[in-house]
Amino acid sequence: MTTHKQYRRILAIESSCDETAAAVVEHGTRILSSSVASSATLHAKYGGIVPEVAAREQLDYIIPTITEALKPISLSGSTDYISSINQHIDAIAVSHGPGLIGSLLVGVETAKTLSAVTGKPLIPVNHVLAHMYANFVDSSQFTVHSPKNKHQPLTMNHEPIQFPAISLVVSGGHTELYLMKSASDIQWLGGTLDDAAGEAFDKTARLLGFENRGGPAIQEAAQTHSRVPGKDFTRLPRPMLDRENLYNFSFSGLKTAISREVAACKEKGMFSQPDIATLAYEVQESITDVLVKKTLRAAKEYGAVSVLISGGVAANLTLREKFLSHIHTNHPHIYFFVPPVWLCTDNAVYIASYAYFRGEPVDWHDITAVPDLNVEVGL
Ligand code: KG4
Ligand code: ZN
Repeated sequence: MTTHKQYRRILAIESSCDETAAAVVEHGTRILSSSVASSATLHAKYGGIVPEVAAREQLDYIIPTITEALKPISLSGSTDYISSINQHIDAIAVSHGPGLIGSLLVGVETAKTLSAVTGKPLIPVNHVLAHMYANFVDSSQFTVHSPKNKHQPLTMNHEPIQFPAISLVVSGGHTELYLMKSASDIQWLGGTLDDAAGEAFDKTARLLGFENRGGPAIQEAAQTHSRVPGKDFTRLPRPMLDRENLYNFSFSGLKTAISREVAACKEKGMFSQPDIATLAYEVQESITDVLVKKTLRAAKEYGAVSVLISGGVAANLTLREKFLSHIHTNHPHIYFFVPPVWLCTDNAVYIASYAYFRGEPVDWHDITAVPDLNVEVGL
């Protein structure tokens, strides 16, 4: 019988969507390295992720990304990644679903090969569940060198997480709510019935004319919004806030509402930058209101001591601020955890952290890529 937390230093590999990432993390909390290669610019050219294009790119990226992640831990600065794994790594973790099949295969088959040739244990990781472990890592020890990341990320991760905790995972393909009774005991409470929150940002962004990844574009446009008297738009719906659908979400109606608004605006000749900014603002308000209210309702119902948010949408500044202010005002006894922005979107750091706290090694022959891997755990 294996026990949790038995592997001190884990090399993790992530390739479930359009990012290709590798990281080395110690004790599930201390980041030794993190390397992320994104094909976002390429996908922007095609107006979204084309699965075959993503997988082909990832084949090129995977070994250089792993080599990059191993460099800081090889004393000699050696680029021989096999000997680095042999000498410095205790286990290999890989995201094996859910995700795009071609993309997942790149990471999974690479990880299996590395496990077979080095003899290191291999830990399969559920990508969606893993997102929440971005809250477990000590991000204050690590600086990301990126010209785009000039601002110190907003983070509240100054205390060890106390349980029970309510954990919201909001990514491009998932909006899931969990009860965490401990770092390894997780129970699914509800999720999206149709579009995920990230998908809603991405689809409405396209309707508003933004070509690149939707969430950040909506956030940026919403920041330029200012109410003009007499020029108010219809307030968008706050879907499924009623109790019957306690912890489920549905965001597909927003897309329809926005396309109706866009058509109406265009008809009136009012589809200029301020109108777009107002619609972006309304979309962001609607999505974030629902996420905050449902999560805090669950926190109250389950007597949670902590609330954790994670996934790409957790990078949204309005969502972070709303959680912070609601908790501060209405639930001052609850600790709020949100990873720094760079740990919200896909990377391999939280894959390693999950593997440490909750993963179980499996014989490499038995690991496969599972595009529709179940996220409704602990029922
Ligand atoms: O977790 P993630 O990187 O990939 C998945 O596992 O899906 O999440 C990507 C999603 C995209 O839908 C993207 O638009 C959204 O996260 N996102 C944001 C922001 N940054 C990324 N949504 C709202 N505001 C943001 N600042
Ligand atoms: Zn993700």
